[in-house]
Amino acid sequence: MKLATIGTNWITSTFIKSAHQSNKLTLHAVYSRFIEKAKEFAKLHSAPIYFNNLDELAKCAEIDIVYIASPNSLHFEQTKLLLKNKKHVICEKPLFSNIDEFNEAYNIANENGVFLFEAIRNIHTPNFHQLKKELPKIGKIRSALLHYVQYSSRYDSFLKGDIANVFSPDFSGGALVDLGVYPLSLAIHLFGKPNTFSYHPTLLHNGIDGNGTLILQYKDFHCTIICSKISQSHIPSEIHGELGTFILNSSTPTSIEWIDNKTKNPIDIGVDQDSLDMVYEINTFINIIKTKDNQSYEKLKNLSETVLFITENSRKSNGILFHGEKE
Ligand SMILES: NC(=O)c1ccc[n+]([C@@H]2O[C@H](COP(=O)([O-])OP(=O)(O)OC[C@H]3O[C@@H](n4cnc5c(N)ncnc54)[C@H](OP(=O)(O)O)[C@@H]3O)[C@@H](O)[C@H]2O)c1
Repeated sequence: MKLATIGTNWITSTFIKSAHQSNKLTLHAVYSRFIEKAKEFAKLHSAPIYFNNLDELAKCAEIDIVYIASPNSLHFEQTKLLLKNKKHVICEKPLFSNIDEFNEAYNIANENGVFLFEAIRNIHTPNFHQLKKELPKIGKIRSALLHYVQYSSRYDSFLKGDIANVFSPDFSGGALVDLGVYPLSLAIHLFGKPNTFSYHPTLLHNGIDGNGTLILQYKDFHCTIICSKISQSHIPSEIHGELGTFILNSSTPTSIEWIDNKTKNPIDIGVDQDSLDMVYEINTFINIIKTKDNQSYEKLKNLSETVLFITENSRKSNGILFHGEKE
C-alpha cells in the first residue's frame, strides 16, 4: 500500500522507518505546510512526491493510506478530508479532542469504506501481548500504579514564554492527552472500562494540565495513573494482585518482571521486540485492512472511544478547555 505522511517532526521520520521495516507500506508522498520543507523531507526519506497543499494530497489517486502526526487540534479536520477522499488514516494519539469529533470521523470512514486507526503504539507490542497473556496468574487484582512522568524540554521553553503546541489549549495539549493516554490505554485494554474515574491535575498558567493523577475505580481495585510533562519519574509501573506483582519498566513496556508473592523470586517474562515499536501497530492496522477484520477494528475503535471519553470528561470537569470550548 502506498503511504503519505503529514508532519515533519521526528515522530514522522520514526513512522516512515517503521513502515519501511514492516515491508507493508511504501512511502509515496509527504506533506508540509512549507514547500521547501516538504521537498527536503521527501528527499530525506526518498519519497517520490511532496505537497504543501492538503487537498491535492487527498485527491492524489496513487495514495492509499495517510499517517497524520500534526498538532492534536488539527487531527479532526485533516482526518475528515482524507477519509472523504477514500484514504485509510492512521492518526497519532490523541486521536481527537472530543467524542463528537470521534463519532463524526468514524461515520465518515464507514460511509467511504475506509479504515481509521489511532496510533497508540504500546498496546500492539509483543511485550504488551505477553503481559495480557500472563495477567491471569496474578489472581485478584488489588491495585495498579501506571505512569508516564517525563520532564519535557518544551517545558523549559514554556517557562520562558514560548508555548509549544503540546502545552497549548488551542492545540488540544496537556499532560493527560499527551502522555496519560499511554497508561490509560494500557489499563482500559487490560482491565476494561472503569466504573468511575476522577482526575486531579496541576494546572499551568494557560489552563492546561502540566501533570495529574487519574484514578480509575474498578469493582475490586483502583488503578492510579500519574502523567506529567513537568517532572520526572525514576520508578517502574506495577500491577498488584493477591498472588503476585507485575513490574513494567514503563507504560510502553519493553521489559516485564513477575514476582510471585510466595517465592518473592523475580522472573523476567519480557520478550524481545523491535526498537522501532511502531512496526507492530502498522502490522496490526494493515492486517485489519487487508482481511477486512471488522471485529478487531471495532475492538480498537471501542478502546479509543473509552480513552477519549475519560480524557474529555476528566479535563472538562477540571476546567481544562480546548479551542472552541470556552464560549
Ligand atoms: N507515537 C508517539 O510516540 C508520538 C511521539 C511524539 C508525538 N506524537 C504525536 O504526534 C503528533 C505530533 O506531535 P509533535 O510533537 O511532532 O507536534 P508538533 O511538533 O507541534 O507538530 C508536528 C508537525 O505539524 C506541523 N505543525 C506544527 N505547528 C503547526 C501549526 N501551528 N499548524 C499546522 N501544522 C503545524 C509541522 O509540520 P510542517 O511544519 O512540516 O507543516 C510539525 O512537524 C501529536 O499528535 C503527538 O501526540 C506521538
